[in-house]
Amino acid sequence: MKGIGIAVVGATGMVGTEFLRILEARKFPVKDIKLLASKRSAGKRLSFNGTQVQVQETTSDSFKGVDLAFISVSSEVSKQLAPIAMKEGAVVIDDSSAFRMNPQVPLVVPEVNGADVEQHQGLLAIPNCSTTPLVMVLNPLHRVNRVGRVIADTYQSVSGYGRAAVEELKEQTRIVQGGGRPKPGVLIKTIAFNVIPQIEGFLFNGYTKEEQKVTDETRKIMHEPNLAISATCVRVPVLISHSLAIHVEFEERIRPDEARQILSKAPGLKVLDDPQHGEYPTPWDVAGTDDVFVGRIRQDQSKGTGLAMWIVVDNLRKGAALNAIQMAEELIKRNCLKPAARLAV
Ligand SMILES: NC(=O)c1ccc[n+]([C@@H]2O[C@H](COP(=O)([O-])OP(=O)(O)OC[C@H]3O[C@@H](n4cnc5c(N)ncnc54)[C@H](OP(=O)(O)O)[C@@H]3O)[C@@H](O)[C@H]2O)c1
Repeated sequence: MKGIGIAVVGATGMVGTEFLRILEARKFPVKDIKLLASKRSAGKRLSFNGTQVQVQETTSDSFKGVDLAFISVSSEVSKQLAPIAMKEGAVVIDDSSAFRMNPQVPLVVPEVNGADVEQHQGLLAIPNCSTTPLVMVLNPLHRVNRVGRVIADTYQSVSGYGRAAVEELKEQTRIVQGGGRPKPGVLIKTIAFNVIPQIEGFLFNGYTKEEQKVTDETRKIMHEPNLAISATCVRVPVLISHSLAIHVEFEERIRPDEARQILSKAPGLKVLDDPQHGEYPTPWDVAGTDDVFVGRIRQDQSKGTGLAMWIVVDNLRKGAALNAIQMAEELIKRNCLKPAARLAV
């Protein structure tokens, strides 16, 4: 393939910025690129492949001549923009939660269900930034020894919310250090020197929307609609990288060293697991990297067939931009960028 006409919508955001870096680094076959955002950013210049590209306001004309649109904006804005892009003939890879659970929209982590991209009808979605690392660790083990039940507790950085929350953590930290008591802004409660056991609103079942996403998306990606899974999602005062403490019950007993062996051979995963010598992943170590890191793999002493593990991922890279770009690479590799049928959304 010679080159693809690309649009990056949300190019000025936390994920959009990372998109540009990764497209460059992976030498993605870009014929031309449009950097799109809201009216606020129109006229800003961003660097791409050594040239300065002007950011444009996203309008109904923005997608003319675009083959592939990476959309990284809120769900509400995605719901408006994705249909416009698709009407112009672009294939959309969307980062928001707007379309993830639509049965006609492939929800893909290439290392787990890459073949699902072949079913696309012009619109594909990436998973939530905590779901991706979870399925990356569960799937290789599940193929050897079926997963019966998963408990996942997440420790999610503020960049998972977007640029405004990153600024909020920095500002609140300054206020606390100056002896003040900051008030919440975009996040529901004060985040500096605090943890918040709520990401998004609560549902009828007592879980938050974020927790329900982890459950529903994990089942969809692994093609296991009845997988027993329960999540608690917590916002923590970390800038970049999400962490997860997981407890997994398998059909049969599995030793930690067997799990380490399986996981160390799985694509996109790095086992960092020598706690006696201080070796396990932390958000600082993982920020800016592409792999999902797993450590502290141990037998769950409350359940003979269980393992406990600790996972860390850069939420902006593999948790978002990188996964979307890998999906596009998968479409190219499988020669299915142009869909056989087009979804009406
Ligand atoms: N952050 C993560 O770790 C992560 C992981 C997975 C998925 N996601 C999803 O990715 C999306 C973007 O997240 P983010 O963290 O990058 O958010 P962000 O930092 O807040 O960036 C939002 C982007 O959306 C643009 N935007 C806002 N309104 C727009 C409009 N009407 N038309 C066009 N562009 C508009 C903004 O442009 P301006 O600069 O002009 O305002 C900005 O570029 C969200 O749906 C999020 O759920 C995020």
